[in-house]
Amino acid sequence: KQKAIQEGLKQALATGYSILESGGSSLDAIEAAIMILEDNINFNAGKGSVYNSAEKQEMDASIMVGDSQQAGAVASVSRIKNPIKLARYVMENTKHVMMVGEGAEKIAKEGGFELVNPDYFASIENLERLKVTQEKEKLGTVGAVALDQSGTISAGTSTGGMTNKKPGRIGDSPIIGAGTWADSTVAVSCTGVGEAYIRTCAAHEISTRLRLGQDLKVACAEMLDMVAPLGGRGGVI
Ligand code: GLY
Repeated sequence: KQKAIQEGLKQALATGYSILESGGSSLDAIEAAIMILEDNINFNAGKGSVYNSAEKQEMDASIMVGDSQQAGAVASVSRIKNPIKLARYVMENTKHVMMVGEGAEKIAKEGGFELVNPDYFASIENLERLKVTQEKEKLGTVGAVALDQSGTISAGTSTGGMTNKKPGRIGDSPIIGAGTWADSTVAVSCTGVGEAYIRTCAAHEISTRLRLGQDLKVACAEMLDMVAPLGGRGGVI
């Protein structure tokens, strides 16, 4: 399992990196990398999304471009094969930043996205995980950040959320400033118990600390120290 996860990460990195090497944008690179992880059953996003307490998948994703601070997000979608792609579509084709549920899926249809049958996300392993879970449990949200040759940085995050979450629960991943952030200085993607990341505006906190002159490593460590007491064990890219 660990080997399969490492292989998936390597494939995502290689794909994103080859886009950057050939002069592509950081936005294209992170989207491509995240789509690879969404299509891999070993990650909690897209195909591998965990089940909520009603034995369904509700997925969240967001994307942000540093220089322009353009952002897009979708939350609680259950028929979108690649939620990160729809987050980008919301950013580039609507006046809005975040779309949820049926409204997001309607936009997807208008944009020519193929809606998949919820069976596409079925996984015995994830169903088993739901059955043994007594309380909310986390299984690796996916995220990517990239810097392209023009100097633009982008960030994206995609997740099935927490096993056994209540239907309708939305975590930090689609919330700009909580799970994802990018500006001209830093691109951030968070993973962990989303409620704590929302309550601390965790991704944006790193940007604020850098603006005030803090070192990047210290800013990341101190952000995680702020999140931890609220139950937010996790990490950040
Ligand atoms: N960080 C992902 C979530 O809480 O849904």
